[in-house]
Amino acid sequence: MELYNLIIGSVAEDPSDILIFFGRIHPLVVHFPIGFLLLAALVELSLKKQHFQILKNYTHYLWGLGALSSLVAILFGYFLSLSGDYNENTVFLHKWSGIALFVFSAICYYASKKQVRLPFYGKKVLIAVIVLTVFYTGHLGGNLTHGATYLLEYAPNAIRSLAGMPKKAIPRKKVTVLDSADVYLDLVSPIMVNKCVSCHNNDKKKGALDLTTFEKLMQGGENGDVIVPGDVEASDFYRRITLSESHDDFMPAEGKRPLTENEIALIGWWIENNVPSKGYFTQMTPDDDIVGRAKAYLGLDVNLLFKEKVNPPKKKVIDSLSNQGFVLTKLMKDNYYLEANFSLSEKPISEASLETLIQLKEQLIWLNMSHSGIKDEHLEKIGQLHKLIKLNLSRNHITDQGLVQLSNLQNLESLNLYATKVSDSLLVVIPKFTKLNRLYLSSSNANSKIIEQLQKGNESLTIVFD
Ligand code: HEC
Repeated sequence: MELYNLIIGSVAEDPSDILIFFGRIHPLVVHFPIGFLLLAALVELSLKKQHFQILKNYTHYLWGLGALSSLVAILFGYFLSLSGDYNENTVFLHKWSGIALFVFSAICYYASKKQVRLPFYGKKVLIAVIVLTVFYTGHLGGNLTHGATYLLEYAPNAIRSLAGMPKKAIPRKKVTVLDSADVYLDLVSPIMVNKCVSCHNNDKKKGALDLTTFEKLMQGGENGDVIVPGDVEASDFYRRITLSESHDDFMPAEGKRPLTENEIALIGWWIENNVPSKGYFTQMTPDDDIVGRAKAYLGLDVNLLFKEKVNPPKKKVIDSLSNQGFVLTKLMKDNYYLEANFSLSEKPISEASLETLIQLKEQLIWLNMSHSGIKDEHLEKIGQLHKLIKLNLSRNHITDQGLVQLSNLQNLESLNLYATKVSDSLLVVIPKFTKLNRLYLSSSNANSKIIEQLQKGNESLTIVFD
């Protein structure tokens, strides 16, 4: 009764759900006929040897199980074919070779059970056909789930050409400078390859939409065009990637990894700019925001510094600094870049401690010297730590005289000068830090005129000031 309710009850309520549920079991169920039938064939082969003759009375069980499980697989496969937008031709061949397998194995079952001799080499031929059909059907099934190119995707070119496939596409070179990035090939297409084409390709065309090439994308899906050039609002593609993730129409479907904010922004920008199918991205006058996002997407925003492997620091130096009140932290798992933090120390910094710190100049990229008694004369030493990316000098008695000593810190991305006495020298020093994107100047001696000028010189710099 329970089972009856489960099947019939839910069929009445929503016929497709339960069928799809069974359909999805198909890829699991198909392994049973494959196993039984290959085993049956093997046992038949072994009967040639006297030694194995005793198996003769059992072969019909194996053929029977093979036939029965094929039938179940066929049924579940049929349900699955109802749910999916699979390539019709492949489904047709897959279905009929599956049915052929059932018929052949049923004949073998009958022949073994009744011990009838099939005319001529009948049984041997039949068994050979079964084995070949098992592989053929399985291969078609694999194509349906993974796409026809899956099996040979990584095969050597010689094998690919035997199978009538083109040579492996030479992968596009990784973009190393933004100016060489192609708008479609390097920015738009990889987003779809990573997040969409597993369901939207030639073999598995969900919603009748194929996203493997620009032309196919522009052909649209079952509801027509998915992209309206120049109009994000009217583009179903854009609507679906920006819905809330719980919405039925949200893409990618089935809880697959959604697009990142940068990816969505790039797609939106591309649609607004009339979906160019090729051309250099930077020649299409993207604004700073979208350039930043493109860089981030291509991984061009990471500091080149990190590409370099640094040597481990000397243990003696680490121990000595720890004893003097520094907290040292390794920042990366596979590299020896370090953060040094002195802001928790009770004592003010000494000249000698900074002397020791300089011995870490190859490894040190973050330094926190907040409220540490730093004075102008100390900054000459800190100015030698040329790899610093983040420097916190807040709440120290630092003036313009000291600040100019830092001019060589070309890698700085973040500089904290909160509650210091710096003012005019900022206009000289800050423009030298081309990578700087955060500058903290609240409660310093800087005035709004200085801030205005700094901001004019570098629009991507965020200045925190009140
Ligand atoms: C896990 C499978 C899956 C993935 C991954 C996926 N989709 Fe879909 N997509 C579907 C299914 C199923 C449909 C049909 C049902 C529907 O319209 O919601 C569909 C339909 C669509 C449609 C509507 C086509 C039409 O004309 O009706 C668009 C547009 C679309 N997808 C875009 C995308 C985009 C863009 C991505 C990548 C960000 C993506 N999909 C990733 C499964 C997927």
